[in-house]
Amino acid sequence: MTHERLDKVHAMSGFTHADVPDQSGKTFIVTGANTGIGFEIASTLATRRARVLLACRDEPKAEATISRIRLKTPEANLAFLPLDLADLASVRNAAKLAEKEPRIDALINNAGVQGPKLKHTVQGFELTFGVNHRAHVAQAHGNIRVAHRGHEQRSAQGREDRVGRS
Ligand SMILES: NC(=O)c1ccc[n+]([C@@H]2O[C@H](COP(=O)([O-])OP(=O)(O)OC[C@H]3O[C@@H](n4cnc5c(N)ncnc54)[C@H](OP(=O)(O)O)[C@@H]3O)[C@@H](O)[C@H]2O)c1
Repeated sequence: MTHERLDKVHAMSGFTHADVPDQSGKTFIVTGANTGIGFEIASTLATRRARVLLACRDEPKAEATISRIRLKTPEANLAFLPLDLADLASVRNAAKLAEKEPRIDALINNAGVQGPKLKHTVQGFELTFGVNHRAHVAQAHGNIRVAHRGHEQRSAQGREDRVGRS
């Protein structure tokens, strides 16, 4: 989604970046944070002092995104979390890496594919189902323990959000 289109959505809903409250002390995982809606979410959370893990499949792209966010918010607390949603082994690995975080407050399942051509994930699921649904469910399961740990220790609310229609 382009900036122009997002601005239209903001105009329609009345909800803007400025309405997002301070997120100090909270940690968010944002899948597909390199582009579009995921980038806007990651960037906005960073300006609101959250720690944001950019869960992306392409490290150079994610590092470029981190630099881009830091141009606007130099103190942004950001880290790359390697995640290829078309491979459940990568999803498990990302969940393991996320376990090292003291807390996860929210998992924002934004990444998605939409393509007319029949393709498959590494484990043989149809790509749209595998990436948009199957992998995000696995990712959520992997992170629930960490989210609960945050909840128990600091009264944080662990939650999962799904971006998109499907
Ligand atoms: N834009 C709309 O109007 C609209 C409408 C309805 C629903 N949605 C849904 O909302 C979400 C965001 O939309 P958008 O327009 O911002 O999408 P977008 O710009 O196309 O971005 C999709 C993101 O998903 C990532 N991704 C794709 N396959 C992946 C994989 N196997 N592993 C990890 N990441 C992967 C991409 O990573 P790379 O950067 O590596 O390619 C990219 O960052 C999507 O789920 C989309 O289906 C959007």
